[in-house]
Parts: sequence; C-alpha cells; structure tokens
Amino acid sequence: MSQVAVYLVTGSNRGIGLGLVTHFLEKHSNAFVYAGVRDPDNALSLQNLQEKYSERIAVVNYVSADVEGNAALGREIEKRHGHLDTVIANAGIYSTCVNVADISPATIEEHFRVNVTGAIILFQAVYNLLKKSGSPRFVPISSITGCLDGPVIRSPTGSVAYGATKAALNWTTRKIHFENDWLVTFPLSPGPVDTDMLRNAIENDKSGTLQKLAVDDGSLNWRATVETVSVSLIKIIDESTREKDGGEFIHVDGTRIPW
Ligand SMILES: NC(=O)c1ccc[n+]([C@@H]2O[C@H](COP(=O)([O-])OP(=O)(O)OC[C@H]3O[C@@H](n4cnc5c(N)ncnc54)[C@H](OP(=O)(O)O)[C@@H]3O)[C@@H](O)[C@H]2O)c1
Repeated sequence: MSQVAVYLVTGSNRGIGLGLVTHFLEKHSNAFVYAGVRDPDNALSLQNLQEKYSERIAVVNYVSADVEGNAALGREIEKRHGHLDTVIANAGIYSTCVNVADISPATIEEHFRVNVTGAIILFQAVYNLLKKSGSPRFVPISSITGCLDGPVIRSPTGSVAYGATKAALNWTTRKIHFENDWLVTFPLSPGPVDTDMLRNAIENDKSGTLQKLAVDDGSLNWRATVETVSVSLIKIIDESTREKDGGEFIHVDGTRIPW
C-alpha cells in the first residue's frame, strides 16, 4: 500500500474547500484529509464524505486566526499522523463591495484578520508538521482581485477590503517561499467560481462590474463550478514543485498572474 498523504483544507464546510476535500478523497486513495470547519458538530455538508470515507477523513475545528485553536489542531494532527504533506489555506471572506472612500476600519480589519492573519497563524501552527513531510506544500487560496494590474483594481467596484487583503496574502506567501527553502508554497487563484462568496459579491456590487466580469462578458467571462475548479486546482497542487511554482502567483489554468 502506498504511503498516506496527509492533507489539511481550511474552510471546507462549503464552496471551494468542500470541493477540494471531496476530490482529494475521490482522486487519491492514499489521502487522509483533515477538513477544517468552524463547527465540526454541525458540518452537515461533510456527513456523506464522513460515511463514505470514514477511515480517511477527520472533520476538525478550524477558526481563522484563532491562535490557541490552530495550535490545538496542530497537536491533534501531530498525535495522529506526526506530519502534514499539503495544507490548503482556503478559508476566506468577501463580505462587502464598499469603495475606498467609504470602507470602515472594522471591515478592513475583519478581512485582514480572516484572509491574512489567519493564513499566518495557520502556517505557524503547521510549520513543524510540514517540516516532517517528504514533500511539504502550503498553498493559500488567493484571488485575481488581489492583482495590482488586473481588471478588478481598474474597475469602479469597491472591493478594497477583499482585494487589498488578497494582495497582502500574496506578499506573505511569497515571503514564506523565500524564508523556507524546503517548502513548496505559492498563492493560487481559482478564478470566478459559482459559490456563496461570488454570488454574494455580485449581489453586493451595485456598480454591476462583477456581474459583467464574472458572468456576462469581459475579461473574466465565465463562472466555473466548484467540481471543475477543484479538479484543476488539485492537479496544479499535486504537480507543483519549488523550482517550477514556488513563490509564483498561479491561476487555475496554470498561467502566472502578474502581482
Ligand atoms: N468563489 C470565487 O469566485 C473565488 C474567487 C477567487 C478566490 N476565492 C477564494 O477561495 C476561497 C474559498 O472561497 P469560496 O468561494 O468557497 O467561499 P465561500 O463559499 O464563502 O466559503 C468560505 C469558507 O470559508 C469559511 N470561513 C469564513 N470565515 C471563516 C473564519 N473566520 N474561520 C474559519 N473559516 C471561515 C466558511 O465557513 P462557514 O461555512 O462556517 O461560513 C466557508 O467554509 C476563499 O479564500 C476565496 O477568497 C473564491
């Protein structure tokens, strides 16, 4: 039997995180997946997977930027597997479409806490577990919204809280790359995906720009399903190497996004 590959996916209660957990279990018979959710006792969406793959999944408590909780999760994984091979920092929020002129400090800080501090605290909690892997990968899920030269920053859409924190996440991930020469790490952009997040963002964007970019036409003229995107993301993650991908900003189609 091949050696167990141990994965941790945060924000796996729904959306892209749930898709990644599902496909890691389906595609890799040697995968053990820690599915991080805010409320494991009520993670109904993961129940089918828990029944089908009872030996290969653990639904665990994960709350972004909760230092004690993340450390406890690290200890739990240490006890059960002693290492982690692939960590996907997927949990994130995009709760508002307010312009820079009007954004509140509290909204900015909340996005920074979940989207950036959360990934840093997670990295700290899994650092020693990744170090014990034969092929360690730490992959934060970013967004093309964070691109400094992309269609969203040039649009009148008020996505500063989200875009600025994804740009900060990109910077942080590239920094992790340069600080840790034993690790494969890169921010990964899924493109627009049909999830609660994108649907809410489009609804909140009164300018109609996101609707145009993500759904109608324009430069991001498609809205993919979680299933399709999860398969593409997993292929990129599984085939990634430090030499080829480390510290790059990678899009779901494999192309490099300018920072
Ligand atoms: N959908 C897109 O078009 C798109 C495009 C680019 C990038 N992304 C990125 O892809 C990732 C997943 O997005 P999605 O579209 O799947 O979003 P989603 O459907 O809104 O799911 C977000 C997930 O993150 C979890 N989460 C939110 N705040 C959290 C916190 N404080 N602590 C722990 N977990 C938390 C949610 O948990 P609950 O279920 O408990 O609320 C949920 O499982 C995000 O990082 C997002 O920025 C998405």
